[in-house]
Amino acid sequence: MVGVLAFHGTIIHCAAATETKILKDTLLVVTPDGRLSHVKHGVPESDVHNALSQLQLPEPPNLRVLSQTEFLIPGFVDTHNHAPQWAQRGLGGGLHILEWLEQITFPNEARFEDPEHARKIYSSCVDGFIKQGVTTCSYYGSLHGEATKILADICLAKGQRALIGKCNMNRNAPDYYRDKDAAESIAVTKDVIDHVRALNASGALIKPILTPRFAICCDDELLENLGSLATQNPDLPIQTHFNEAQQEIDATLSLFPSFKNEADLYDHYGLLTNRSILAHCTIMTDYEIDKLRHADSGVAHCPIANTTVGGGFMAAPIGKFLEKGIKVGLGTDSGGGFSSSILDVIRQAIIVSNARHLMTGEPALSVWQCFYLATLGGARVCSLEDKIGNFQVGKDFDALVIRTETDGVMTMLQAQDNVEMIFEKFLISGDDRNIAEVYVRGRQVKGMSSSPV
Ligand code: GUN
Ligand code: FE
Repeated sequence: MVGVLAFHGTIIHCAAATETKILKDTLLVVTPDGRLSHVKHGVPESDVHNALSQLQLPEPPNLRVLSQTEFLIPGFVDTHNHAPQWAQRGLGGGLHILEWLEQITFPNEARFEDPEHARKIYSSCVDGFIKQGVTTCSYYGSLHGEATKILADICLAKGQRALIGKCNMNRNAPDYYRDKDAAESIAVTKDVIDHVRALNASGALIKPILTPRFAICCDDELLENLGSLATQNPDLPIQTHFNEAQQEIDATLSLFPSFKNEADLYDHYGLLTNRSILAHCTIMTDYEIDKLRHADSGVAHCPIANTTVGGGFMAAPIGKFLEKGIKVGLGTDSGGGFSSSILDVIRQAIIVSNARHLMTGEPALSVWQCFYLATLGGARVCSLEDKIGNFQVGKDFDALVIRTETDGVMTMLQAQDNVEMIFEKFLISGDDRNIAEVYVRGRQVKGMSSSPV
């Protein structure tokens, strides 16, 4: 870890879903353990050294002064990501979900039986998401224990905050790519959990997560055992796919005829909790929305995947979720989607919400709400809001330095642009070239002079 860090300039973050703060002349101090120890507003640049000396820091900080066209924002949180699908993005568009799994995804994920293959793809995947400013990622691994441990090793070594889960799937998948039975699936899961906990006992950077692929791929015994594991380990988050597409919902309910909907199904197995991350949630009855709110489960909104794979244009009722106080974050769903960029996800979330607004009258999302979803909203979905999501003193410093004057594709700046306009231009037209530096727990992981990404 480096010593004390200090930043001076404009910070932009969310205090709540409807409260984005743009704060100029702010001084931030990050202690060597990666935590924000001081956030002082209204400090003119000329007064920075004086202000720092008054803080009586244990050592002189490494000071970074941002220019007028740079700013600091919290790191992006990707609440739904399939690491083994990193190299298949773009394939299989137009297929319905079950055919897409069978034809594209299962053959691709089966290759992660080979640890060398896993090392190569996962290394590129984690680099790729860090490059896009994803400081926290909730990853599905493949079903393989060894490969999933490798993913955890790589996240820790490269410094990306992550939830990492071995994917559970013991039926409705080809013989060459399915857990032998529930007992084996659970044994491998426990082994991966032990490995991740041993790597990072405090859970400060990486944590295990229970990852039943979806009910179609898990038999009754497996779901029951996963529910018991969740109950025995109240610190373990859970992730699964939920009401993604009509074809998937119909198949689920025909496999579980005693349930009328997926909310009741997952609840029955103890998997609908306040630590559950439910990907997609596109087709939802009011009954299920209420059930999610009651359980305080979080939604991983994946608007790119919802409109590219799965079969149809599935516009999730995000405005309604937010009105009801349901936790929502954004997900790339790489490779269900085509992009590893949360900026792309923000844009697609706006487009899809406009479509939903026209279809139903529900409120469309603003760019500011989407910025919230990409940061604090995602942190809440991952049960990490006490650690990350904004620049509150005591939280970890997961941050992006945004540089808005580059030779990239972002809308050019004009003299009359205020910070709000510059930030909006970045969110709507910027890309990874504008994400100049990335920090996780105070460690710089992008933008060093000899940056690996
Ligand atoms: N449902 C079950 N598995 C998957 C997957 O890998 N991607 C998506 N989008 N949906 C799924
Ligand atoms: Fe997915």
